[in-house]
Amino acid sequence: MKKLKIAIQKSGRLNEDSLKILKDCGISIDNGKDQLKAAARNFPLEVFYLRNGDIPQYLRDGVVDIAIIGENVLVEKGENITIAEKLGFSKCKVSLAIPKGETYNSVKDFEGKRIATSYPETVKAYLKEKGVKADLHIINGSVEIAPNIGLADAICDIVSSGSTLFKNNLKEVEIMLKSEAVLAVSPKIQAEEQQILQKLQFRIQSVLTARS
Ligand code: PRP
Ligand code: MG
Repeated sequence: MKKLKIAIQKSGRLNEDSLKILKDCGISIDNGKDQLKAAARNFPLEVFYLRNGDIPQYLRDGVVDIAIIGENVLVEKGENITIAEKLGFSKCKVSLAIPKGETYNSVKDFEGKRIATSYPETVKAYLKEKGVKADLHIINGSVEIAPNIGLADAICDIVSSGSTLFKNNLKEVEIMLKSEAVLAVSPKIQAEEQQILQKLQFRIQSVLTARS
């Protein structure tokens, strides 16, 4: 019997809620800590614990059939990947922020500015649409520190509670994207796996209905 391969975040904000929704679907996973792969006991499902940023590529290559991932990651690098279901957790925004003390009029203020971000494609597309040219500095984490150390004039990053912005004396001025966890599907998924996915989706929909 074939198994559906699902990628979930190895560690980080989505990990716990992703496992929780599978559990609520009645799926129990043999979970050893530090395991990168685990099988479900009572459903044809194999779980791969992966780094967030790698998941779109694994989906595109068909290494995994589906994934639970933040919509924001798909917008950044999820070309050709479809969303089967919005999952209602891990809600966040991808926003532009500037130092608190500065005045802000419109997105045109970003013209010629240096923006530090881990979401270059998202920012590029947003600013292009607005006809604004800025200078992007790609960093992988702790983005909010950039203006304070003189590395950038502004930042673009995920905003959830807003506490990281607050602690770094920044204010959100543009919301580029609203995101939540989604169930994403590989363009290479095969017929048998597709059938298992339908069963899983049916369970997920029941769980989401019960939660709402
Ligand atoms: C994430 C994100 C923001 C912050 C947003 O960073 O990059 O910095 O969380 O959450 P908040 O609005 O609730 O403060 P994370 O803590 O994952 O660290 P990293 O950026 O260094 O990866
Ligand atoms: Mg951060």
